[in-house]
Amino acid sequence: MDLYNQIFNNNREWVKNKKASNDDFFNHLAEGQNPEILYIGCSDSRVTAEEMTGVEPGQMFVHRNIANLVPNNDNSSASVIEYSVAHLKVKHIVVCGHYFCGGVKAAMQAADLGILNPWLRNIRDVYRLHKEELNSITDEKARYNRLVELNVQEQCANVIKMATWQKSFLSNGFPHVHGWVFDVQTGELIDLKINFNKILSNIREIYDLGLGKSNV
Ligand code: CO
Repeated sequence: MDLYNQIFNNNREWVKNKKASNDDFFNHLAEGQNPEILYIGCSDSRVTAEEMTGVEPGQMFVHRNIANLVPNNDNSSASVIEYSVAHLKVKHIVVCGHYFCGGVKAAMQAADLGILNPWLRNIRDVYRLHKEELNSITDEKARYNRLVELNVQEQCANVIKMATWQKSFLSNGFPHVHGWVFDVQTGELIDLKINFNKILSNIREIYDLGLGKSNV
């Protein structure tokens, strides 16, 4: 049986297993969602948001696109962030990149990729912002990995530039923003422990929207 047809068998099996451990599982899901986490990750089929984190349905709001980007004028990611922060009131926002990211790799190469050009230009902008550091890394794979990490950092910065996030954080003290990287080769999830206080103090005067006291 090909994978496409297998999926419906898998689904029936999954429903059976979920009901076996909790007969009310789907009735409970139908009542609503109360996720604590917004996860923004890459569409890459190897980076499975729910499976690799072990979360259950209802626990994590998920947005995925090529190279886990939060571009300034992207209505899709902005709407996801607006809804999850202002309405679902998530406590954490995670931007998760991954090593071996095809989107990041493509942005490091001289190639015309049509409609992908403006999307991947966001990553080229990350490279330009960190050109000095990246160009000082002579090993190509290490440079590629570092760009994956810096891309996560810049997308996290894009989240905290948004009014929705600033309003919630200044009045509620959340959501906290985290940068992660998934290593496809080991399966390991790495918290980059990005120092947001440092980043914020560098960019705050530029991106301050005047929404509260500057205790971010
Ligand atoms: Co990717």
